[in-house]
Amino acid sequence: MAALVQLRDVVKHFPVTRSLGELVRGEHPAVRALDGVSFDIGSGDAIAIVGESGCGKTTLGRLMLKLTEPTTGTIAFDGTALAGLAGEGLRGFRRQAQLVFQNPFDALNPRFTIYRAVAEPLLNAGIDKAEHEDRVAAAFRRVHLADLDRYLDKYPHQLSGGQLQRVVLARALVLAPRFLVADEPVSMLDVSVRAGILALMREVRDTMGLTAVYISHDLALVRYLCGRTLVMYLGRIVEDAPTDEIVRRPRHPYTQALVAAVPVPDADQPRVPLPIKGNVPDAREPPSGCSFRDRCPHAMTRCAEVAPPLREVAGGHRVACHLELA
Ligand SMILES: Nc1ncnc2c1ncn2[C@@H]1O[C@H](COP(=O)(O)OP(=O)(O)O)[C@@H](O)[C@H]1O
Ligand SMILES: [Mg+2]
Repeated sequence: MAALVQLRDVVKHFPVTRSLGELVRGEHPAVRALDGVSFDIGSGDAIAIVGESGCGKTTLGRLMLKLTEPTTGTIAFDGTALAGLAGEGLRGFRRQAQLVFQNPFDALNPRFTIYRAVAEPLLNAGIDKAEHEDRVAAAFRRVHLADLDRYLDKYPHQLSGGQLQRVVLARALVLAPRFLVADEPVSMLDVSVRAGILALMREVRDTMGLTAVYISHDLALVRYLCGRTLVMYLGRIVEDAPTDEIVRRPRHPYTQALVAAVPVPDADQPRVPLPIKGNVPDAREPPSGCSFRDRCPHAMTRCAEVAPPLREVAGGHRVACHLELA
């Protein structure tokens, strides 16, 4: 099926304040949040983007929604480059592409009633006011907050985290979008309500035929949700494969570590730390060659010299590792 979203060589650098030395030497240091990312998302597909904090997941999500612009590279939605969108074209895109915020406690204005919060995107999109009530009611039904009257006049602080995240989802769905980016949609919620919210997102996705991106630092949370998973490390995709393959036969040493840290389902054990040494390197000064080499148990001389390209190693399975390219 044709790609709904297409990214090509997307780079995003954030300039940082220069030190006196850097100023004198004429250097322009930058955080390399994304360093050449290319992939397609087929219409109706759901993909997960996983990786430790700081590896560029949120930046990638914001770029796909045109909430920020790439330093270089191109992003297209339904065949149209986002960079060129303005006016009516941009408004059309904003109606079709929505973000589910990470933290439902921050996502809603505390002074707006729940009704106003969910109706606000309709207002912004210039939808006739006469349609608002019906549309809000339909969005509430989709997220199973059917007993509307109990919620509409309430304020965010009067709702639980799970209810709030349903409201946040209703707000994202009220314009009947085609594309949804959910950035850590359950990480701030109590463990007891997470599974329900994830199941709801899956149901909504299926019934509305949405194309969806789920961002998470935790592979365990998204492994049952998406057919395909992209693993990121320090601004790059290091592995891209069907989620089954990622979980059963991870090929990149970093993915292997992520999979090893996923607890056995239902076992009541604490999360094990990643079985690799150290932390994600500073994105201002990534190591030469492969950015994972400092932490990799298999690092070879070549890994310090050449960054391994992301290559297809089997049908629909891409890996960026010299071990796989040998
Ligand atoms: N607005 C910004 N200004 C400067 N640096 C930023 C900005 N947003 C993100 N970064 C940096 O970019 C890198 C990737 O961040 P982010 O995309 O938030 O990662 P993740 O969502 O995977 O935790 C981090 O090093 C972060 O500090
Ligand atoms: Mg993030």
